Amino acid sequence: MQSEEIKPLILVIFGASGDLARRKLVPAVYDLFKCGLLPENFAILGVSRSGLSDDEFRKKAFLENNLFDISGESEDNKTAFAKKLFYQAIDTNNQADYAKVATRLAALDKDFSTEGNYIFYLSTPPVLYEKIPAFLSAHGLNRAESGYRRLVIEKPFGYDLKTARALNKSLKSHFPEEEIYRIDHYLGKETVQNLLVTRFANGVFEPLWNRNYIHHVEITSAETLGVGNRGGYYDTSGALRDMLQNHLMQIVAHVAMEPPIAPTAESIRSEKSKLFQSLRPIDAVDVAKYSIRGQYMASDMSGKMVNGYRDEEGVPENSKTETYAALKFYIDNWRWSNVPFYIRTGKRMPTKVTEIAITFKDPPHQLFSHADDFVQTHNQLVIRIQPDEGLLMKFGMKVPGQGFKVKNVGMDFHYSDLAEGDVPEAYERLLLDCMKGDATLYAHGDSVEASWNFVEPILEAWKNDNSIPVFGYPAGTWGPLAANEIMEPTDLTWRNPCRQLTEDTNYCKL
Ligand code: BG6
Repeated sequence: MQSEEIKPLILVIFGASGDLARRKLVPAVYDLFKCGLLPENFAILGVSRSGLSDDEFRKKAFLENNLFDISGESEDNKTAFAKKLFYQAIDTNNQADYAKVATRLAALDKDFSTEGNYIFYLSTPPVLYEKIPAFLSAHGLNRAESGYRRLVIEKPFGYDLKTARALNKSLKSHFPEEEIYRIDHYLGKETVQNLLVTRFANGVFEPLWNRNYIHHVEITSAETLGVGNRGGYYDTSGALRDMLQNHLMQIVAHVAMEPPIAPTAESIRSEKSKLFQSLRPIDAVDVAKYSIRGQYMASDMSGKMVNGYRDEEGVPENSKTETYAALKFYIDNWRWSNVPFYIRTGKRMPTKVTEIAITFKDPPHQLFSHADDFVQTHNQLVIRIQPDEGLLMKFGMKVPGQGFKVKNVGMDFHYSDLAEGDVPEAYERLLLDCMKGDATLYAHGDSVEASWNFVEPILEAWKNDNSIPVFGYPAGTWGPLAANEIMEPTDLTWRNPCRQLTEDTNYCKL
């Protein structure tokens, strides 16, 4: 991937005293610092409403951050990093107050010789996504005579197609597209990146990667946790908006796009964009046939009774918001014509797992009988995104002894065997890329809009068509049974993964 040396810079974090900043961002930047990956001339300016001094911020965000344990870190590292943290309180809704940010940045830029390079990271509620860039721009902070000005924003990128378009338009009126970095943290996961390497660095997979050999593709992203204390936010979102429209569709793009001409942001973006354009639109009348929504109900999970979704804090008692979404769709292009894609995500499922399962077609003529009829007999390639990251190839082998009985066996590779040190956290990798000016692993505005465009009819039908059921599923199960009905042929069912990649049976440790 293209990269350049990291120039001196100031990372400005809006929403700096919030949860995400303290749980993910500051820890990620500290790890980069500790590994010597940041330039000498570097500083962080935290910005938010709370009236904190620099020292108070250093304690809250780092030295005494109860969301990030630094007890094992060396005193030298802790002291050196804390000295790079600064804070500015402002009313983020008040344009005039941004003058304080400008003044503070000018002073820090001088003190740290950061050459006018600023990254503005919006770790704030989405209502501020249009305001902050506009207010930065009103103070001339969006462009520089020397140095760069970048903007990083977290999902949600809009609430539907209309709002996503409006957001993109507004962002682009203040920052050029190439300086807007939309974080989809799934793209920062090593194994999602490894998908590109698996496909395009090997001669063996790509020739089979098409409608001639692939029967269907499944993507599952399951979580054991419920919505926790995010009920208020989640109820306005639901699984389709929270996970499927962004993370899962980005994985779909990595699985299905054509080979890019180079591993650069521009060519990957162009392939993804073509892929999204080839998604067969789901008509309103077909939504019930192609999608399933569900909501978890109170149940016993591993010996502990857990709440149903409607009993969670901040969730209305008659909520119809889905905590589970499954979709079947097609990609109308030369490679994928009539290959069904099945994708699903859910909260309160039996195990935390994200994986892609590619099921290959059977040989045209079956010579041998299978030893275990109940075992799926297809060849399957399972790409595990998390946990127990790796690859599992399932194929038939002869059972030793008389006759020709075939048994499905697995050949596995675990990513941990390859890692020489710690695999970097998604946020570390993504932040580092942004500092280098490499947007390859960031979502482009076009693909965000294209993905909203695709899910829009489902969102609409789920909202307006009361005949489409919201299935209840007991917490700790694999979601509504009806989700099997969208699969074809009719005896096909979802592959329900275990925690361990190779534990590949109906009975496994979760
Ligand atoms: C976030 C969603 O984007 O991804 C959360 O908002 C979800 O609801 C999370 O829990 C899952 O991420 P990961 O990396 O834990 O799989």
